[in-house]
This record gives sequence, C-alpha cells and structure tokens, in this order.
Amino acid sequence: MCGIIGYIGTRPAAPILLEGLRRLEYRGYDSAGLAVLDGGELAVRRRVGRVADLARAVPEDQPGRLGIAHTRWATHGGVTEANAHPHLDASGRIAVVHNGIVENMARLRERLAAEGVRFRSETDSEIIAHLVARYYFGLAAGSDTVPPDLQGDPVESVRAALSRLRGTWGIAVMFADHPDLVVAARNGSPLVVGLGDGETFLASDAHALVPYTRRVVFLQDGELAVLGAAGVRTTRLDGASVSLDVHELEEDWGDGERGDFPHFMLKEIHEQPEALRQCISGRVQPEQATAKLGGLDLSPRELVGITRVGLIGCGTAYHACLVGATAIEQLARVPARAEIASEFRHQNPSIDPDSLYFAVSQSGETADTLGAVKEIRLKGGRVMGVVNVVGSSIARECGRGVYIHSGPEMAVASTKAFSNMVAALYLFTLQLARARTLGPHEGRRFAEELQRVPALVEEYLAAPGPIDALVRMVLDARVVLFLGRGLSSAVAAEGALKLMEVAYVPCIAYPAGEMKHGPIALLEEGTPVIVIAPRDHLRDKTRSNIQECRARGARIALIHTAGDDIAELADVAIPVPETSEWFTPLLTVLPLQLLAYKAGLALGRDIDRPRNLAKSVTVE
Ligand code: M6R
Repeated sequence: MCGIIGYIGTRPAAPILLEGLRRLEYRGYDSAGLAVLDGGELAVRRRVGRVADLARAVPEDQPGRLGIAHTRWATHGGVTEANAHPHLDASGRIAVVHNGIVENMARLRERLAAEGVRFRSETDSEIIAHLVARYYFGLAAGSDTVPPDLQGDPVESVRAALSRLRGTWGIAVMFADHPDLVVAARNGSPLVVGLGDGETFLASDAHALVPYTRRVVFLQDGELAVLGAAGVRTTRLDGASVSLDVHELEEDWGDGERGDFPHFMLKEIHEQPEALRQCISGRVQPEQATAKLGGLDLSPRELVGITRVGLIGCGTAYHACLVGATAIEQLARVPARAEIASEFRHQNPSIDPDSLYFAVSQSGETADTLGAVKEIRLKGGRVMGVVNVVGSSIARECGRGVYIHSGPEMAVASTKAFSNMVAALYLFTLQLARARTLGPHEGRRFAEELQRVPALVEEYLAAPGPIDALVRMVLDARVVLFLGRGLSSAVAAEGALKLMEVAYVPCIAYPAGEMKHGPIALLEEGTPVIVIAPRDHLRDKTRSNIQECRARGARIALIHTAGDDIAELADVAIPVPETSEWFTPLLTVLPLQLLAYKAGLALGRDIDRPRNLAKSVTVE
C-alpha cells in the first residue's frame, strides 16, 4: 500500500509529482521519493518521512519534463532512505516505483545475486529494477541468455521482467535513454492513467489527477501501458492488444482540501450532514415508501428470491456491516451476517447462488475485501460494492453496487464514510424489506426518519456536549472499555477503534451483556467505561450493566438519548438528539469520533496520519 505518480509532458515534472504525492500521502507516509529525467540523467531524491520533507530536498527549479514518484508504506525492509523508492538498476539509468508485493522475492534475489547484482536496499521492489536491466542491457549469466530483440527495448524488457514475478504490482518504470515514455503495469494494485492536452499522468488513485484532468483510463489487472506525452497505449502482459476505455470522472462534491479546519479528520466529521444528504437524496421513493438503488439493478422478483445477505469489510467498514446485518435481518427478515474480509476469504466459504453479498469499502482498494469479492465470484456468487471511491478496484470487480457518495475522505481515521456506509445499507434494507415484509406505513416512517437524520447530525455537531470531560477521563487510562448492545455494540467497536488509532489509547469493545463473562475483571477504581445506551429496546438491560460497572468503582461515560434519565448513572453524560432506534448509530458514533479527535490532539498525535497506518490497505 503505497502511492505512485508519474508524468510526461511539457511542464516541469517535479511540482506535479510532488502535488500528486501530497494527494496520495494517505496511502503511506514512511518515506517518499522521485526521479526526473534531467539532461539525459536520472535525478533522484528520496527522503524518510513526509512528502513535505522530500519537497524541501527538491530544487524549486528542478528541470525535467518526465518523472515518476512514490510514497511508501513499508512492507519489506525498514523505514530507511535506502528502502525508499524509486529504486535504480546498477547502471543508474532505469528507475522503478512499485506498489505491491513480490512473493517470489527470495528466489529472484538469490538468482540475481548469483549473477553479480549487488542490492542496495532490503526491498522486494528493487528486484524489479535489476530484472528490467537484465533484459534491457542483456545482462544474463551462463546459459540463460537474453533474446537479442529484447535488448534496448524498454517496453519488452519490462514485459519480460514482469513475466518472472509472482505477486501484486502497480509499477512505473522510466529509462534515462528514453525521454519519450514511461512504462506502467498493473496486477492487483491500482493504477489510473490521466489524459491531458499534450501531457499524460499516472497515479494510484484518480483523486491525485483531478487538478490536471478528468479523462482517465483505469488499467486492468494484467495490463501494461506505455505513456507518452500524446497519450497512452495499453496491451495485455502477453502482448495481446486491448482497446482504450476512457472514462470521464464525475464532479466530486468535497474538495479534498482542509480549508479552515486544522485537520482533515475534524473537517470530515463536520461534513457528515452534507455527506448523508448526498447519499440519501434521490434514492428514497416517497410514493411507494421504499428506496431505489439504481446501481444494484435488482427487480422485485430478485429481491424476494434472496435467501441470505453477507456483508464483508475491514475495520470501520466491518462495523458498518454489523449495523447493516442487524437491520437487514430484523427488518427484512432475511438472515444476514457481517464478515471480516481477511477471515472470510481464507475460510473456503460456501457460497449459495441465491445469497447476495456486499463488499463494503471506502477506498474500494482494500486487498482483503477485494480478495473476498474474487472468492465469491469464483464460486458463482453475487457480490455488489458499497464503495466510496468511484472506479476503484472493488467497484469495478463487482460491476454492480451502490456508491456511498461521502466525497473524498483524506484522514486515515474513517468518519463520514462510516455514516454513509450505514446510510446506504439502510437504503438497501428499506428496499429489501418493502419487497418482502414491511408495510407501506412502516416503510414511510423509516424513510422519513432517515431523511431527518442529516439535520439531527447537524444539531448534535452544533452542540456536542462535554467532550472535553470525556477526553480527560481517557487520557492516562491503562485501558478504556466500550460497551453497547445490539446496534450500539457495533458503535462501541467503532468508538474503540477510533480512539486506538488516533490517540493510541488501549481500548476494548464488548457487547455489554458479555462484559460479565470476562472483561469485568479489568475494572478497578476509576477505570473509564464508555457506554452507548440510546433509548432503544435494550436500554434497560444496558442500564443494569452500568450498575455492575459502577459497583466496581468504574467511571461511566454515557452516550444517551437527550432527555433520558439514564444520564443520572453517569460521571459524564453526552446526550444526542432523539431518533428512531434504527438510526441511533448515526448519532451515537459522533461523540466517539470527537473523543478520538480531541484525545489525539491532547496527546500530541499526528491526527490525520497516525503511526504505522495508511488509508487503504492494499496488502494482505
Ligand atoms: O477503504 P476501506 O473502507 O476498505 O478500509 C477499511 C479499513 O482499513 C478502514 O476502515 C480502517 O479501519 C480505518 N483506518 C478506520 O478508521
């Protein structure tokens, strides 16, 4: 999970590469580097740390109208300058950036070393530069000769090198002797080509291209592309030609810039009312009291024929799946289950053709979720995307699905995407339930209340309650326990994940009823317990759990429905506006997002770029 950017055209390449890296930094921020072609030589700069550190190392007037760049999330090899990309061959005339993993690294490295290659890094990616050089310069040893027609041919050398790799890659390769091209290839790691006027771009994510062009070509797995200033030519890895499928990127709402907010995370928390409106609007059909999700393209007959629903995701997306599964099963009376993608894909799941699966992902690039999609499809199952990033790998692999329309989410900690995933799954729940069990009256009530949620979120964010008191409770805690029942147990899990990833505070989330089966042993005088207990049919049971915690000296922070006297049990009580039981997660999650943000701030954490994390996890 790294970010790649490339440019060839008439403008100075370095500023375009640096701006692209800045937009891709969410994909990894251990180190960054670039190579530009400057007077027939490769000028390479690499730095450990952020893109801003790299930018300081690149002269403002750096010449060169062709270049490639990379921002790294370390997999093979530590966070060092030597391991930063681009990687060069021994001659220093071929540069490679790579996103992915070379699975047969050990064997290739051994063979190349036996042929005399001296490695400068510990990475798997450096192998690619040496392999390309091997074909391009005809460097084979012993009986293993390089066909003469490959020598000096940049495109065929890359093709030959890739045929030796097992694993995943998005790569860009440039040659000091070829000022007219950049070679790129994709297998499992996303790459998008941007078509400009006399200039061509390459990026791991279309968002990085938006300042320059909206005409893009999404490379497919197994494709190789040759970028020139006049455009792009693509073939399959085996040389077969492919026709160019040019897409026009839609105008995104939200600009991916921080504006007046100090951090993306805070901005994105505050964008939730508008994000929810974008997700819901035009999809509710008041006359029939149902919802219509055009991208699913499911007839009423098909809806009635669904025997099971599986919802698959990772991290925050998985928590949205938990909410969705509860709603689908209870309202539409279809068995529904949330699955952690990294587990699901390796369990040899039995896939029933009458089931419907949803792959839920903000980025649409999460390797485990994508792997689950492929497994389902391989077994003849139906799987649809619930995805934010348009044209992402999961969206394209699924073919059909729902875009959640959150707008760009830049902070590593997911906030508005969670809300919109939940909202999109509620829309599907309404559509499915109305086709099966739910009457028009109940359907209308559900739809109307969902439409009211954005305003309720706005109302809460305008007066968020005593979050600072909540922050003080957790700052020096050895552990924070999050409890909730039913839908609120998914919110508890989401709150714990947020506080861990943004503030690095150890947290445990449990369904409240499970607490007495183990976690209660953690409680001692002053242990903070955050309880999510909105007014729902489980509230009184949770109330008893609060009493059990209090009896053992725990301090209670309570997220509750405004006006509910359950607040009397709390040391810190945070009311949220009243809504129907179904939509409580969209409100109770808000104070927990703010808690994570403010605790991270108080502890001096890097809010938008927490340590060791990256926005999209494109490795297993
Ligand atoms: O892009 P995705 O929604 O597939 O990402 C899944 C998780 O990696 C993601 O939700 C992660 O847990 C977030 N950092 C949580 O804030």
